[in-house]
Amino acid sequence: MMKKQLKITVLPGDGIGPEVTREAVRALRIAGEYAGLSFEFQEHAIGGRAVEQFGTPLPRATLDACLASDAVLLGAVGGPQWDARPRAQKPETGLLQLRAALGGFANLRPAVCLPALAECSPLRKEIVAGADVMVVRELLGGLYFGEPRGFSSDSTESWNTMRYRADEIERIAAVAFQIARTRRRKVTSVDKANVLEVSQFWRQIVQRVARDYPDVKLDHVYVDACAMHLVTNPTRFDVILTENLFGDVLSDEAAALTGSLGMLPSATVGGQVNMYEPIHGSAPDIAGRDIANPLGAIASAAMLLRHTAGLPDAAAKVENAIRAVLEEGHRTADLAAGRSRRCIGTREMGELVANAISDTYERQFAYHAV
Ligand code: IPM
Ligand code: MN
Repeated sequence: MMKKQLKITVLPGDGIGPEVTREAVRALRIAGEYAGLSFEFQEHAIGGRAVEQFGTPLPRATLDACLASDAVLLGAVGGPQWDARPRAQKPETGLLQLRAALGGFANLRPAVCLPALAECSPLRKEIVAGADVMVVRELLGGLYFGEPRGFSSDSTESWNTMRYRADEIERIAAVAFQIARTRRRKVTSVDKANVLEVSQFWRQIVQRVARDYPDVKLDHVYVDACAMHLVTNPTRFDVILTENLFGDVLSDEAAALTGSLGMLPSATVGGQVNMYEPIHGSAPDIAGRDIANPLGAIASAAMLLRHTAGLPDAAAKVENAIRAVLEEGHRTADLAAGRSRRCIGTREMGELVANAISDTYERQFAYHAV
């Protein structure tokens, strides 16, 4: 059998990034072995580490490697030591430049409350049980990229611009409706149309796109109300469609409901090269101590298998492996839920998931052999 090969650029980045991406790579390797897919991994510098080494958060070699690969797997960027740097030398700037260069405008952030983790949620079990939200975050527009931006020359003022073109709203809305068709067929578009013109425009365009998807239910919610509903009634949501900054904020909130920010993966699609990264940050306070939760990074690897490798079955197996390990009671420190249980480290969690992945395949092969 011809083995399919995928070229993956791995950008471990800062803080806990290297530790969690190592486990994501481990999961990919093992799933790939069974699924008849081989990976060529190439590591490059991004973020604060790249600033130290190359004087820029997105070195040319990193960008070129990403553009020449089938997918990018990223850990995290940022850290307090670089916070005071000018914008061109901030770790976050490297990530934003990379996003823009790869062109992925749709950032998919699935937040699922796993039954095994119900006790980890800050919300009561009966509120959070069954919550399964897909945040579709527009990633290349809005306040993050809008011009004008900056400081006045006399340092008395500063501004950013929330700006959207119709075609930017159309394409992200289309992604949200298409994803809704694979789920519970409901899109909630989140905006601040009671105050902002850009949100009124957003709403108009989304309504227009919705006409092409009469089988999908659409409602509109203001961002403040959405933040509230997420903690009082998270099961009311299926797909949340929203602009860049609102999506950034709401996806952290949705993640926390599931038990830990460390659980959530993301996929950025729609551009030249897709990028996969956990939504958590670099967590410099716990970096290098083998205590970070690698499951968000591993789940991002699962999204890579689904969206780039075209192997939904392998993706599901990785996700099931994560579930199985949690159901067996294994927890990293962030999932201890205040209980004095023994916690396992980043590496051990990664190994357990890798073993669970091979168990699933072995069982399947054994079944077919009978
Ligand atoms: C995220 C992060 C990034 C963002 C930062 C690191 C630039 O918070 O992916 O959610 O704001 O998009
Ligand atoms: Mn964020």
